[in-house]
Parts: sequence; C-alpha cells; structure tokens
Amino acid sequence: MAEKSKILIIGGTGYIGKYIVEASAKAGHPTFALVRETTVSDPVKGKLIDNFRNLGVNLVHGDLYDHESLVKAIKQVDVVISTVGHMQLADQVKLISAIKEAGNVKRFFPSEFGNDVDRVHAVEPAKSAFAIKAQIRRAVEAEGIPYTYVSSNCFAGYFLPTLVQPGVTAPPRDKVIILGDGNPKAVFNKEEDIGTYTIRAVDDPWTLNKILYLRPPKNIYSFNELVALWEKKIGKTLEKIYVPEDKLLKDIQESPIPINVVLAINHSVFVKGDHTNFEIEPSFGVEASELYPDVKYTTVEEYLDQFV
Ligand SMILES: NC(=O)c1ccc[n+]([C@@H]2O[C@H](COP(=O)([O-])OP(=O)(O)OC[C@H]3O[C@@H](n4cnc5c(N)ncnc54)[C@H](OP(=O)(O)O)[C@@H]3O)[C@@H](O)[C@H]2O)c1
Repeated sequence: MAEKSKILIIGGTGYIGKYIVEASAKAGHPTFALVRETTVSDPVKGKLIDNFRNLGVNLVHGDLYDHESLVKAIKQVDVVISTVGHMQLADQVKLISAIKEAGNVKRFFPSEFGNDVDRVHAVEPAKSAFAIKAQIRRAVEAEGIPYTYVSSNCFAGYFLPTLVQPGVTAPPRDKVIILGDGNPKAVFNKEEDIGTYTIRAVDDPWTLNKILYLRPPKNIYSFNELVALWEKKIGKTLEKIYVPEDKLLKDIQESPIPINVVLAINHSVFVKGDHTNFEIEPSFGVEASELYPDVKYTTVEEYLDQFV
C-alpha cells in the first residue's frame, strides 16, 4: 500500500479545523498543524494544542502573513488543508504563492466547507462572502495546483441544536419559525464526519481536481421535514410561523452584521435550496457517502436525540 500523505492543516485550532486535525492524526497520516506562537499560550486554545500533541500531531509555528514560515512548513508535507476563517479567506492568495514556491504539494484543500460557491443563488452580504471563496478557486486553478474543494453543507453544530431558530440555545418546544415555504432540501453534517470524509479524499484519485460534496442520503432534509422529525421525537405538534422570502430579504437588509450574514446564508440554503438544487455531474464533482460507503456517519435523526 502506498504511504499515507503528510498533511499540513492551516487553521487547525479553528472551529472546523480541529476536527480535521483529529481525523488526519487518527487515520494515521503524519499530521502537521501550523499554529501561531500567540495561540499556544492562549488558555483555551492551549488545551486544544495539548490534545494535538497527545495525538502525535507535529506543531509548526507560523503565520499566514509570514511567507517564509509557510514555505518552510509546506516543504515538509504533501498535502495542505486550509481551514482559515472568514477574515482570512481572501488572504489565502498568500498560501497559494507559498505552495507555488514550495513546489511539492500534491493536493490543496482551500478553506471551503460550506455551499458550493460556484452554484449559489445568494444575496448580499453572503453573495460577496461566497464570491471570495470562488475567487480563491480560480486562483488555485490558474496556478495549476492540484485541488479538492469540500462542499460540506451545514455544520450540524451550527444549525441543528436550535433548529435554525434565531436567538435561542435549544430547539423549539412551542412554536417554530420556518424560512420560505420550508420545502427546499438542505444537508446537515456532523463535524467529526466532515473531518473523516475530508481526510478520506486526500489520497483518493477520484477527488483530484473535483468538488467533494457531502450529501449523505439520511442527512438531507427540508425545513418542513426537519420540523416534522423533531415533532415526532418530542411527541408534540409545534405552531408554525412561515417567513415569506420578501420578508426575509427585508430582514437581511435591515439587520446589522453579523446577523445579516447568517440570514443571507440561511436564505441561500433554505429558500433557494442551494445545497441540492443541482445535480452532481462527474465532470466536476463526487459525493462522499457514495465514494466511502464504509464511513458510518451520524444521521440527523441520531444527532437530534441528544436534545430530546
Ligand atoms: N458550513 C457551515 O455551516 C460553516 C459554518 C462556519 C464556517 N464555515 C466555513 O468553515 C471554514 C473555517 O471556518 P471556521 O469558522 O472553522 O474558522 P475559525 O473558527 O474562525 O478558525 C480560523 C482558524 O484560522 C486561524 N488563523 C487566523 N488567522 C491566522 C493567521 N494569520 N495565520 C495562521 N492561521 C490563522 C485561526 O487560528 P487561531 O486559533 O490562532 O486564531 C483558526 O485556527 C470557513 O471557510 C468558513 O466559511 C462553514
């Protein structure tokens, strides 16, 4: 069997990054995490870094804004996965130029992990945020860097604990707000599974220069179906308040940052149906649960049990 690729994660101490670091180490890839020196001494992130050490992860000090540190880190590995956050998305051009200079990278995963940004019907401010990720795709392609774009759709932990209700910390028990008519289908994936599928793709020729879509069949739900599933679990019918699209668009325009961003993403996902309103064509994409049927992913039905 071919040796497992060495993987460098940039943004490994972030929300989704930590799951990818863990999945990489647990799958037996020599795993490297680029961390900023200031982060190591942070009390909360320091614990995360201790966990990385226990998993055998190699910590490399560096910064997205320190070119030499990037090139040095990249030269030690085969694959680079970026999970940098919103504020650093555009600056991934710095990572691209470091990858070019290092010249040894077999695969680059830019920070995506959401909607397929080439196939969205978003309004501002989500539109511009998605456009930045699309620009990074074009830059990767223009430089001829081998890539995989992971379209993981909704992080379960962001959407399911509240059933997409604003300003609450638990799922609804009396009434529920449903965006649009509640019929377009969205996809929800547990963060550990996003980590597992991403790492599976690293050495897989089927995912080379493709979009890896995470659409496990049991995790595809319309808003209405999600509410019906929750009602079944708690044995109660909820009062349903539908927000028509024009009302949602007005709310987006009138809300401050970051509420407007969240609402605009929700509009793309739940009103426009941007997770599922297109077919995955073999020319541009592959679906993770079809490629890796042995991965026992957590279903939405199972995930919701913890809140009952
Ligand atoms: N599908 C969904 O539901 C969903 C939800 C949220 C996010 N996302 C997407 O997931 C991706 C990652 O977002 P996230 O929320 O997980 O990110 P995040 O929690 O904000 O983490 C950002 C990471 O980038 C690192 N970083 C920041 N500045 C850096 C620098 N100058 N040099 C090196 N590293 C730096 C941070 O390090 P420190 O720890 O040192 O700060 C941290 O590890 C994004 O593309 C985002 O759009 C998707």
